[in-house]
Amino acid sequence: MHRFADRQSLQDALLERRHNGLRIALVPTMGNLHAGHLQLVKQARELADYTVATIFVNPLQFGPDEDLDAYPRTLDNDCQLLHSVQCDAVFHPTVAEVYGESPLSEQTIVHVPSISDGYCGTSRPGHFDGVATVVCKLFNLVMPDIAVFGLKDYQQFLVISQMVKDLCLPITLHGVEIVRENSGLAMSSRNGYLDESQKSQARVLYQTLIETRAQIESGNSNFNELEAKAIETISNKGLRPDYFAVCSAQTLKPACLSDRQLVILTAAFVGNSRLIDNIRFTV
Ligand code: PAF
Repeated sequence: MHRFADRQSLQDALLERRHNGLRIALVPTMGNLHAGHLQLVKQARELADYTVATIFVNPLQFGPDEDLDAYPRTLDNDCQLLHSVQCDAVFHPTVAEVYGESPLSEQTIVHVPSISDGYCGTSRPGHFDGVATVVCKLFNLVMPDIAVFGLKDYQQFLVISQMVKDLCLPITLHGVEIVRENSGLAMSSRNGYLDESQKSQARVLYQTLIETRAQIESGNSNFNELEAKAIETISNKGLRPDYFAVCSAQTLKPACLSDRQLVILTAAFVGNSRLIDNIRFTV
């Protein structure tokens, strides 16, 4: 597996492969990889001839009181994991390599309106601007044919899809299903912050998503009541819910009776760790 830290050597290597007609896939990550990320690489390898994973803890998507400094940096272990699933290359730039020397506050920002609002966009102001900006930069640096993202961050996936559409970026996006631990807990780099009892508490998130989906599938369309009940269940387990919302899977607007494709989005704090999860289904 090739390792690149500077954009020039990455781009030289990619140019040669592109000239040889290879299809390039990008898997953007912030490192501290787990089985969910490896699934993205496996999917990318099926879709393309040359897969580049990026490892970059993007400061622009963290709020001032968030875990940027604490976010685990585990590059050597990540590279071993990527190698184990035959990823072709990893790009692990520094902040200066991605953003140059000027302060982040003076950067050009990509803002995707509407779909960035609400849910994580409300709780983490500026987060999706940071995500869209760095993903746009990575797209420009790698110029992939395909980019693969996990669907755990479903709002993020829709934000990036909207950006690709609005900016006419010639990239096909693929969303990969959430990988879960045996308990049902969605895999996340932030699960590493949890002790065993918190992990056990956190199972309530997926259980409540499943229970709410079952209620809707059996004909209960009182979404407000279902959301309130879910918030109560999650709180009773000792979590601090941020939101639990039944939405249109296309627009993320609150679900209405005519919607067929639904997503239930949730976020909650377990101790100081903020976890997100979702479930998508057709009624
Ligand atoms: O989902 C993530 O890990 C990040 O938000 C991403 C897409 C790599 C951008 O930094």
